Amino acid sequence: MRVLITGGSGFVGQRLCRRLDEAGHRLLVVSRDPEAVKGRLPEGATIRRSVLDFVDTPPEAIVNLAGESIAARRWSDEQKNRLIESRVNITRDLVILCEQLKASADRAPRVMVSGSAMGYYGDQGDREVTEETPPRDEFAHRLCKRWEDTAREAADFGTRVVLLRIGLVLDAGGGSLQKMLPPFKLGLGGRFGSGKQFMPWVHREDLVQAILFLLDSDELEGPFNASAPHPVTNAEFSRTLAKQLGRPAFFPVPAFVLETVFGEMSRLLLTGAAMRPRRLQEAGFQFRFETLEAALADILG
Ligand SMILES: NC(=O)c1ccc[n+]([C@@H]2O[C@H](COP(=O)([O-])OP(=O)(O)OC[C@H]3O[C@@H](n4cnc5c(N)ncnc54)[C@H](OP(=O)(O)O)[C@@H]3O)[C@@H](O)[C@H]2O)c1
Repeated sequence: MRVLITGGSGFVGQRLCRRLDEAGHRLLVVSRDPEAVKGRLPEGATIRRSVLDFVDTPPEAIVNLAGESIAARRWSDEQKNRLIESRVNITRDLVILCEQLKASADRAPRVMVSGSAMGYYGDQGDREVTEETPPRDEFAHRLCKRWEDTAREAADFGTRVVLLRIGLVLDAGGGSLQKMLPPFKLGLGGRFGSGKQFMPWVHREDLVQAILFLLDSDELEGPFNASAPHPVTNAEFSRTLAKQLGRPAFFPVPAFVLETVFGEMSRLLLTGAAMRPRRLQEAGFQFRFETLEAALADILG
């Protein structure tokens, strides 16, 4: 089938595009700079600048992953707007595409899997968090809620909408792990603040397989937590990573240091949610990497 992907050039998107291509799907990728990202995508992918450039090539499915990196820079008011608008604007274009395709040929895409994040729930302490857990109102929640609410509008045109609340994506060659590795490899790693905050995580391959599963499961819609069944605290994460690398993890970073350096963005490091993928598991999705030990052994092994 024809699958339109936003953010296809990103850390998750590149692996997703590869898997979709291997499965024989036709790729339609939206990128701000088609020429620059061509080399990161399978040959034969059609890359265009805007979602609405694909009106003449109606996709049957959409995966929406584009957005300014949440940890790119301190969260000034301007940066908060950029984080919101880089997601909401492209998602709104996707809804307009669904509307136009529905109106012109009654061919709205069958399904849209749209990104969101663990931040939807805000800081939840150590309580177990499922898709039913009421969120805590803070910036990350408001960002994800606006992103999700915009995506949900595609349902008005008969498109099945799935919202993916993604945990920390782990793999080699990108994402947060790439940033964490240098200090840990030098034996200078350690927990952040108390280390009690939860860090739901997911192996990139499992995330991509979950997206393929949700694209194919006609009866599934609404929010899905996309993180491994066994979330860990930040202290456990640090210990496991250090052990995997054969290094000590003796160097905790005090909360006030992170707060001073990163401002409000330090909440990404100092707060969290013990998110469980309840709906994915109830639907029968099998994670290949259920524990952090198994995921890191695969990635670093
Ligand atoms: N990685 C994680 O740990 C994680 C965790 C939770 C949620 N998520 C969410 O999952 C999605 C995919 O994650 P990822 O790690 O693959 O992201 P990524 O590598 O940062 O890639 C996202 C893509 O979005 C596009 N983009 C970047 N800045 C943009 C801007 N200002 N305006 C419009 N488009 C922009 C870029 O595509 P072009 O340059 O081709 O336009 C980029 O390749 C993201 O939306 C992210 O928020 C990721």
